[in-house]
Amino acid sequence: MHKCASSWPRCNPPQRRAKERDVSRLVILPLLALALALPVQSEPLGAAKALPTLDQQAEQLKPYKQLLQGALQNGLNGGTLAAMAACQLMAPALQSNLTSAVIEVGRASHKPRNPANGLQPWMLEAHRDYLQGGDSAPRQIALNDGSVGYLEPIYLQQGCLQCHGAVLTGEVSDFLAANYAADRATGFAVGDYRGLFWLKTIAVKTPQQ
Ligand code: HEC
Repeated sequence: MHKCASSWPRCNPPQRRAKERDVSRLVILPLLALALALPVQSEPLGAAKALPTLDQQAEQLKPYKQLLQGALQNGLNGGTLAAMAACQLMAPALQSNLTSAVIEVGRASHKPRNPANGLQPWMLEAHRDYLQGGDSAPRQIALNDGSVGYLEPIYLQQGCLQCHGAVLTGEVSDFLAANYAADRATGFAVGDYRGLFWLKTIAVKTPQQ
């Protein structure tokens, strides 16, 4: 800054003007870019108006389900162990990839293989109903912070038995012992309730609130 910065209208030598304009452009342009960028960044704040319907949440969960299934299927082409490894790698990765500022997705179980997949308090009531063989329809749950939860029960199928059934091969048992020391996800039979797919549509507070 030159010495007249605090009183520039009075003492702004003409020869310096062009230079100062250049400088101010350097400062203003990034600020302008920032100002233009800000409304875009804060757009999700204003987007929390309408609550999602059950069907919309079911639809939002689909990519996660399909990608998980694809990863498992792909892995199974290489045998049970390859599929185990694929599941171990891909399940947490897909979960974090599909989780954003506006939705979170995941799986939860009363008998988790991965300890990170335990039940969260907001899931417990629906979980007990599903476990007791009640209505298996998906449910929406209003959460205290204004977010909307969505739950869908998961039931065991034939193809799941090799990794979640009562009888496991030696290599599967060894893999589980080595990679999931706290595994509780075996001993299931076809048709058993296994846990939940969950999705949360996150409420974002507007600045005025
Ligand atoms: C090839 C082995 C394999 C097969 C087949 C398999 N799973 Fe899994 N499953 C796993 C592994 C490994 C995990 C832990 C993933 C992780 O670390 O997040 C897991 C985790 C899960 C979870 C998340 C909760 C938890 O226990 O951590 C659910 C729910 C689940 N499996 C259901 C199923 C169902 C239903 C099927 C059949 C459609 C199935 N699995 C088939 C290996 C398998």
